[in-house]
Amino acid sequence: MVLCNIAVMNYTVLSDLHQIAITKIVGHELCLFDEALMISYAHDETEDLMFMPSMVVKPDTPQKIAEVMRYCNTHCIPVTPRGAGTGLSGGALPVYGGVLLSTEKLNRIIHIDEKNLQVITEPGVITQVLQEAVIEKGLYYPPDPSSRGSCFIGGNVAECAGGPRAVKYGVTKDYVLNLEVVLPTGEIIWTGANVLKNSTGYNLTQLMVGSEGTLGIVTKIVLKLIPYPPLSVVMLVPFSDAEKACEAVSAVFRAGIIPSALEFMERDAIEWTLKYRNDIPLKIGPEEKAHLLVEVDGYSLETIRNEAEKVAAVMDEYQAISIHYAESAEEKNALWKLRRSVAEAVKSNSIYKEEDTVVPRYELPRLLKGVKDIGKKYGFQSVCYGHAGDGNLHVNIIKGDLSDEIWRQELPKGIREIFQLCVSLGGTLSGEHGIGWVQKNYMDIAFNPVQLQLMKSIKHIFDPNGILNPGKIFPDTM
Ligand code: LAC
Ligand code: ZN
Repeated sequence: MVLCNIAVMNYTVLSDLHQIAITKIVGHELCLFDEALMISYAHDETEDLMFMPSMVVKPDTPQKIAEVMRYCNTHCIPVTPRGAGTGLSGGALPVYGGVLLSTEKLNRIIHIDEKNLQVITEPGVITQVLQEAVIEKGLYYPPDPSSRGSCFIGGNVAECAGGPRAVKYGVTKDYVLNLEVVLPTGEIIWTGANVLKNSTGYNLTQLMVGSEGTLGIVTKIVLKLIPYPPLSVVMLVPFSDAEKACEAVSAVFRAGIIPSALEFMERDAIEWTLKYRNDIPLKIGPEEKAHLLVEVDGYSLETIRNEAEKVAAVMDEYQAISIHYAESAEEKNALWKLRRSVAEAVKSNSIYKEEDTVVPRYELPRLLKGVKDIGKKYGFQSVCYGHAGDGNLHVNIIKGDLSDEIWRQELPKGIREIFQLCVSLGGTLSGEHGIGWVQKNYMDIAFNPVQLQLMKSIKHIFDPNGILNPGKIFPDTM
């Protein structure tokens, strides 16, 4: 077997010979070479990053993907897999050029198994489309990243996506039972079985989930489903003190309630979003510094009302200014639209960097305070929001008036301090966005060399030539 030295791999421009061979495998109509057409595959939603691939392929069968992988493995050609390109850590960026492999043509929901409460799907199905298809059968697939209207379920598996409902229902990994995967060397395997319990050998399924497209390309996904909870109460709760809002979060759980969402938004996040989308009828008072968006859901009106009352009592205890209950389905939708649009709103406002910090939820107030203190020290503004119930705070650092030099030279030091704070509070670098391209040089904060080497060895077993999604997860020094 050829061993490529990926460490010295430079940006790869494919020769005509390689392009012709790969086109023959995939089919001419499923390949792109023209930069004007490839530009939308050169970036994802991460900051303002852009890397042009040498060619884009959109294979429509796992067998074609396997053949592409065999060819690229033999010829040491980098392959970057891509779902819908909604990622926030640069996981789908073709940083070494070569082949960009899109899963968009694998877009069928293969089977909704109502007898076993499972669904078998291809990776290129939009998450919300999958959710709506199973809701029609009275079933629920809860993980719901804010991008659910455009992201692919395959990308959710690659990054172990979360979203607001994760606080009650868990993240993508809690629903993945079994995967069909094309290995970098071109074999096609299933990782497990379509069962709810499985203590048979190593858990290859969960090794694949969250591996950010570095170990294999997922071509079929078997997901667990649950009965759909049709009822919910949604409340928006303003606070005059953002840290106090964060303190209320863990108190909700201590009061015996697991809400189906417990989201935090500081004032700027809401203001910027209201400006960005002018279709949300909400006004915020001058003293409101942060809001919690709380949802309880379930199957019985009495139970959810009871839970909502307990949540309200906690909010009062933590000096909430008021509690606003959404009165109608439209109002609930408007509040969720507000929350789900924050990332886009921030992005439209300024160049920014988004960190996906996560700590044990009781430490959330200390994390928020620490982020603001670090911001003061380095002179940057941050807009914070996120899945407070999970201790998962999205920290958007705004470039604003900062010079390019400070942004390039000084900011990484500030980000390093933020991550050090997370780890010192018992947390880690990313809750749901992944490490990808933009966070990899902070991995030494969360892992020591022994741990990192172990991960690198796993990567090497799956991908001895290092051709699949090179440049991701591992620090440049490895
Ligand atoms: C959100 C995305 C950015 O929570 O994770 O809106
Ligand atoms: Zn999020």
